[in-house]
Formats: sequence, C-alpha cells, structure tokens
Amino acid sequence: MFELLKEQPADKILMLMQAYREDPREQKVDLGVGVYKNADGKTPIMRAIKTAEKQLWEIEETKSYTGLAGDVGFADAMFGLLYGDTIKRETVAAAATPGGTGAVRQGFDMIRMANREARVFVSDPSWPNHITMLKHLGIEMVPYRYFDSETRSVDFEGMMADLGTAKPGDVVLLHGCCHNPTGANLTLDQWQAVIDLMTRNGLVPMVDIAYQGFGDGLEEDAAGLRMVVSQMPEALVAASCSKNFGVYRERTGLLMAVAQDPARLKVNQGMLNHLNRQNFSFPPDHGARLVTMVLNDAALRADWEEEVREIREGVLALRVQLADELRRLTNSDRFDFVKQHRGMFSRLGATPEQVEKMRVDNGIYMVGDSRINVAGLNARTVPVLAKALVDAGA
Ligand code: LMR
Repeated sequence: MFELLKEQPADKILMLMQAYREDPREQKVDLGVGVYKNADGKTPIMRAIKTAEKQLWEIEETKSYTGLAGDVGFADAMFGLLYGDTIKRETVAAAATPGGTGAVRQGFDMIRMANREARVFVSDPSWPNHITMLKHLGIEMVPYRYFDSETRSVDFEGMMADLGTAKPGDVVLLHGCCHNPTGANLTLDQWQAVIDLMTRNGLVPMVDIAYQGFGDGLEEDAAGLRMVVSQMPEALVAASCSKNFGVYRERTGLLMAVAQDPARLKVNQGMLNHLNRQNFSFPPDHGARLVTMVLNDAALRADWEEEVREIREGVLALRVQLADELRRLTNSDRFDFVKQHRGMFSRLGATPEQVEKMRVDNGIYMVGDSRINVAGLNARTVPVLAKALVDAGA
C-alpha cells in the first residue's frame, strides 16, 4: 500500500523553521513562523498562564475525559472575550478543538457536510494552510483579491468585485484581525460593506480569528467579527488561543457555529460534537482550562490583558523603528506601510530572490512571499533587516 503514496510538498512555514534551526550562524534572525518572541528571542509562558498552571496543579483532581465539545466553561469564557455582549450565548454552538487549525479544519468539514456545492472564497494571499486544507478536503477554493502589492494595503475594490461573483451558499473566509500573511486589515466601513454584500448575495461568513489583542486591542480586534455575527443570520468562527495566551503547544482552539435562530443550536451543537468524535474524540483540555481560569479570575485576567498590551505595544514600537530606519536608508516613505499594518505579520514586498539573498547573506529567515514576523525582531536586529532589505534591492 505504501508504495501508492505520493510524497507531499513540505509546508513552507514549517520548512523555514527547520532551516533556521539548522543554520549554525550566531547572528541569524528568525522572522518565520508566527510565534511571539520577546527582545531576547524567547517565547515565554505568559505570567497569568504560569500562575493558573500552578493553581491547576493544586486543584485538578482528574484527567478523565471532558465532554465531546470540551469544557462548557471554556466556551462560555471565550464567548465573552470574542463577542462581548453583542449576541446571545444561546445563538452559539461551540466545540473546543486542537488549536485554531483544528477549528478551521472542523469548520471546513462542517461546510462540506452541510453543502457539497459550497465554494470557499479565500483571500489572496492567505495563510497557506487554509488553501491546503481545503484542497485536502476536496472543497473548491476561489481566491479573492485582497492585497495591493503596490500600496501594500487592502485592494478593497478588487476584493468586492471578486466576492461579487460568489453564488448564494458560498462561504467567505475572513481573517478576524491581523491578516496573515499581509498585516493589512479592513476598516470598519469596509467590514460593513463586505457584510452588506454577503447579506445581499446569501453568502456565509467564516471568520478565522487567531491574533485577537495583537493589533489595536482586545476589543478593537474583535469589532469586525462582532459586526458579522450580530448582523448576519449565521456564521462559522474559528478562534485560536495559541498566540494571545501563548499556549501554542497545548493546542487550544474553539470552533463556533453562530445562528441568530436559536432553534439551530441543537443541531449545530450536535454536528460540532460529531465532528470532534469522528476526528479525534475528546479535544485537548489543559490549555483550554488555563485560558478559562485566566479569563474568569479578575486578577489573572488583568495581568493577562496587561501582558497582551505589552506585547502589542512592543510589536508596534518595532514597526515604527523599522519604518523609520527604512525611511532613513531609502530617503523615501515607501516602507511606511509597515507602521500601518497590524498584528504579527507584514508582507514587505521583496521578491523570492531577494528573500533568498537575505537568508544567504544575512541569515535572515522570512517566508518566501516576504512575510515577516515582526515579533521576531528586536531593537538590535531592526537595522540589520532594514539594511539587508535595501542591499537586496527591495
Ligand atoms: C504562522 O502563520 O506562522 C502560524 O500560524 C503558525 C502555523 O501553524 O503556520
């Protein structure tokens, strides 16, 4: 049987992680995978998570299974974080998943189970795994224009024109905030225009939100999502806790089916449970439990919010430093977009050859489409990247 298998192409982001690890140069700079790093290049366990972990060790009495959808307390706590008071809890069916990736994958699975004809419209570019998962599941993917490589901002006209070709029942995949890989995001007016178009044409939104708090703030980053779920009859929402709670390896995510008609709750919840059962049975619990403890305890939550703020502001300061340094070196404002972008990533607009040159000459690792993880920089490496970019001719 095994001789029938074809070799699968390696994931570009994960390949880069490996190449970076194997590079013996001391001065190498990792701007690849989307993992937050502090100025010392470390990905620390967040303070509130560490405290919750100590508390959990004391109070946890069993490692027996949770429910198929995970602990309901996790879904309740995440509901508050994601939606505030914009919608009612009984409109949301939710199941814990192994990370945000698990939530996206189960969401795609649910689309396929509901409507084999549905196509999924995906921003061009998007997180590469969106595309490969759709392909894996045999769901038709339609790219929509998103990024203007001249201005390095959202090509909103192109986006609306492409979404205008979707048929009723098609799904529109949107990044809740901090677009991956570009860093260019919709304004609230643009969110509204997209919602109006989806409503007019009977499209179904699916929002992938993996970086809440890393853009403009915890509330601000959820604003587009809240507009979608409060205005549209239904939506799928995939949330990740990997980044904003720093629990990457605990695999902590949540898939939600939001339906304004509460009569849908039972079937939707049953479907989420079914998908968990078929794919892996019970979801991981440790990370979800820590997140729940942090969100439900006033002191832990305040500390967590403060740390998210520190991270966000640190990344913003690096953006400003990089844009200013590039202004100085190029004597132009053509890299000022770095300051406008939000979240962990920016697509710089370098060619694959220039990206390769920076890797070979300077030990700077970024994804081939010139996506950088801004959090991989620090005050010392910003000028190194700026000079390498200019030297490479970007
Ligand atoms: C990324 O985009 O780098 C992250 O979401 C990590 C991953 O799994 O690709």
